[in-house]
Amino acid sequence: MTTAERETETTEVDPTRRVTLKINGKAYKQDVEPRKLLAYAIRDTGLKGTHVGCDSSACGCCVVVLDGDTPVKSCTMFAVQAEGREITTVEGLGQTGALHPLQQAFWDQHGLQCGYCTPGMLMTSYAMLQHHSDPTDQEVREFLGGNLCRCTGYNNIVKAVQQAAQVLRDDKVNQLANAATGGNA
Ligand code: FES
Ligand code: FES
Repeated sequence: MTTAERETETTEVDPTRRVTLKINGKAYKQDVEPRKLLAYAIRDTGLKGTHVGCDSSACGCCVVVLDGDTPVKSCTMFAVQAEGREITTVEGLGQTGALHPLQQAFWDQHGLQCGYCTPGMLMTSYAMLQHHSDPTDQEVREFLGGNLCRCTGYNNIVKAVQQAAQVLRDDKVNQLANAATGGNA
């Protein structure tokens, strides 16, 4: 083999790698370059609810939840690093006609205007409520510190998260009461 042939052989290595991303309980196979950001890999599945606002970990529009309770800015992670993790995006929270309490609360409390930041706000709030079921307003503000909103002034977002937290706490109390009475509460 000549030197030229050897060079051609080494430069023809396929730079992509096949990954399987588990998003909202469904597996998506994709050929990605190792440098491809998770945010873009998610959007390339057709799930466009994960927004990209800054590409540099500043805005929080791209937050998704890993393994049920960990919020991650998906522009700070490579798609190949997400293999084997459970990814939840805003599409996995609820559906039209069956909104998640957070989605309903953002609607009720006018917690959005243009909506660009909303998927990230919802996903960060969702992760927070897995750990803190009864946060103070200040704790909500601190947890959402990495999520920027240009429109709302944040007050209605905090109100919305508090409404959802209350609904989820009430649901839990009702479930426990039902379990204790065999469903006759
Ligand atoms: S797009 Fe990820 S933080 Fe802004
Ligand atoms: S609602 Fe417009 S950026 Fe938050």
